[in-house]
Amino acid sequence: MGKRIAILTSGGDAPGMNAAISAIVRKGLDCGHEMFVVYDGFLGLVNGDIKQVDRKFVSGIINKGGTVIRTARYPEFADVRVQKKAVKVLEENKIDVLIGIGGDGTYHGLLGLHNCGAKVIGLPGTIDNDIATSDETIGFNTALNTICDALEKLKDTSSSHCRCAVVEVMGRYCADLSIYAAIAESAECLVCYDHIMPDEELFERIRKVKERKSHCLVVVSENLLDINELANKIEEATGFEAKPEVLGRLQRGGDPCPQDRILAARLGCYSIDLINQGVSGVVVGTKGTEVAATGIKEGFELPRTDRTSYFEIADVLGK
Ligand code: F6P
Repeated sequence: MGKRIAILTSGGDAPGMNAAISAIVRKGLDCGHEMFVVYDGFLGLVNGDIKQVDRKFVSGIINKGGTVIRTARYPEFADVRVQKKAVKVLEENKIDVLIGIGGDGTYHGLLGLHNCGAKVIGLPGTIDNDIATSDETIGFNTALNTICDALEKLKDTSSSHCRCAVVEVMGRYCADLSIYAAIAESAECLVCYDHIMPDEELFERIRKVKERKSHCLVVVSENLLDINELANKIEEATGFEAKPEVLGRLQRGGDPCPQDRILAARLGCYSIDLINQGVSGVVVGTKGTEVAATGIKEGFELPRTDRTSYFEIADVLGK
């Protein structure tokens, strides 16, 4: 029998969220379900901002950045009383399953709803790649492309001026965007979680770079240190004119790359397959070449992928 399935996006938007919405709605309709969207994430859910949608609603959005159903940061949703209010809204609207697309905060919200008795499924939609239950998250590859493009532009100008570019990259508390970008661009230095170079070692490395190059790229993970201060210290210690750059939220924008669209489509369709089999209370992701589901609670206990070998590669390429 057809079910009533609702979708929301929550937390920071990620390129590919629309592709996921499109796949879920199309596959859901194909399987005879009634499909709904919730605007503005958990905030909209609590306010009952729910709308039934058809194929027309998702037409032409697979390649669009952002999220057409909008998103929100809503820390109040950590409160179980607010979660119970949301469950009541789901019941009033006769929603059988809620699919949430987002990152760590979204998964905590879904876990709260699951604990209150609601049927939920989570899809990893975040540029940060910080979800242990999926090898890759929707949006990560697009953001990586955006960052690499920005770093190449900064290289052009810093080598023309004999400058050192000290660039802060997003990722919340996960270093993946920084590590991948540093490798892809052969950055001379990488400063990130689990790989914090002592100041003197960093300065010595930059001094050596200065002897043979007219530019130096230092990639730094956000939430780690003040890059203005770091740039000042580099300039003082090495004599290399250093300019701090925060790439900021432009890293979240732009049309999703084909890889993210495909990932979103696979995980979106898989979530409906699971609902058809009566499965909920899980988060979906990729493991190698396969899609896989993990219990939402168990997912929080898994460690993230160890990147030690990546640090070694970044180190060799930057020399
Ligand atoms: O989770 C995605 C992300 O872009 C993080 O990389 C970053 O730390 C955070 O969101 C910023 O969020 P906001 O735009 O709400 O300040």
